[in-house]
Amino acid sequence: MPNFYALIRPVLRRLPAEAARDLTLRALELGLGRLMIDGASQEPDSRILAQRLWGLDFANPVGLAAGYDKDARIPGAMLRLGFGFVEIGTVTLRPQAGNPKPRLFRLEEDEAIVNRMGFNNDGLDAAVERLSRRSRTGIVGVNLGKNRDTIDAAADYIEGIRCTAKFADYLVVNISSPNTPGLRDLQRRANLEALLRPLIAAREETGRRPPLLVKIAPDLTTAEQEDIASVVLDLEVDGLVVSNTTVDRAPGLLSPNAKEAGGLSGRPLFAASTALLAAMFRLTRGRVPLVGVGGIASASDAYAKIRAGASLVQLYTALVFAGPPLVSQIKKGIADSLTADGFMSIAEAVGTSLHKAPAQANS
Ligand SMILES: Cc1cc2nc3c(=O)[nH]c(=O)nc-3n(C[C@H](O)[C@H](O)[C@H](O)COP(=O)(O)O)c2cc1C
Repeated sequence: MPNFYALIRPVLRRLPAEAARDLTLRALELGLGRLMIDGASQEPDSRILAQRLWGLDFANPVGLAAGYDKDARIPGAMLRLGFGFVEIGTVTLRPQAGNPKPRLFRLEEDEAIVNRMGFNNDGLDAAVERLSRRSRTGIVGVNLGKNRDTIDAAADYIEGIRCTAKFADYLVVNISSPNTPGLRDLQRRANLEALLRPLIAAREETGRRPPLLVKIAPDLTTAEQEDIASVVLDLEVDGLVVSNTTVDRAPGLLSPNAKEAGGLSGRPLFAASTALLAAMFRLTRGRVPLVGVGGIASASDAYAKIRAGASLVQLYTALVFAGPPLVSQIKKGIADSLTADGFMSIAEAVGTSLHKAPAQANS
């Protein structure tokens, strides 16, 4: 039987990008996800992909990046597509409409997306209500942000942590979306330290103490990268998500939509986000688990992220272009590459492209 996603994709491509996204989300909410996957998606994950991080057992390292399921509507459906974990959000304290439409643009020729959604979401209470109803199988992280008009950013994040800690397997402090004015300034050393200290204290008070990660932008200077790494090590932040979308427009983009304002994701983001990943791995001396995200469209992209320092990977944009079967293709390809290179686990492969002679690292 032809894959349902392959059948509906021509229709989706003719719709404005956000309408296509809403329709797909609705179909997944209605349980049509099982028609979008092939036999390979149903197979259990290869043992070599299993990994324990922060006390959580990941069956595979391939996750859904934040922004697809902003309101925790379909974490179960996305886990059933074969993802090893799903990150919902960004969730803000109060519901927020986001920027005026159109605000989501496909760059077909570049296998990329530009978005300036602006944290449109139903708010914290709605997300908590949905998360509290879900069955606790599968790993679901919660990505937290601040409302556009909030002045005391820490207060928003703290409330987010207090309300979601009970339901989140991990938390992400998102300070890197380009579509909330001033947000990325929180990445500067003094701001970051002042923000994270009370957040970590709030997380301790929740009792459950889910791991707390920080999501960073690809457009950081070397000094900013060094500052973030030292704050992360000093405050014992549990991990970094590297990276969010970029405001940069590399030369060579073909689509006329490249000129739209917002964050660019997909294939053109791969090189910059992977370079940042490698830099953060080096600066944090391999002590902090990193989630590699940005431009992953194939198993070799995902494997390159792992070898550049990622313990886990995530994707969003390529899923829009290739559809759900991509998830099982990526998982199979990572398992094959690990075996071919003589690694017994993902942990053994993490960061190995940063050594001069990776093949000898294991011998
Ligand atoms: C339409 C869209 C909305 C996004 N919304 C969020 C968001 O709310 N929070 C967030 O942390 N990242 C968000 N992202 C960024 C992704 O999580 C990811 O970091 C980025 O797209 C790079 O991965 P990719 O190249 O695989 O898409 C969004 C991305 C897209 C394309």
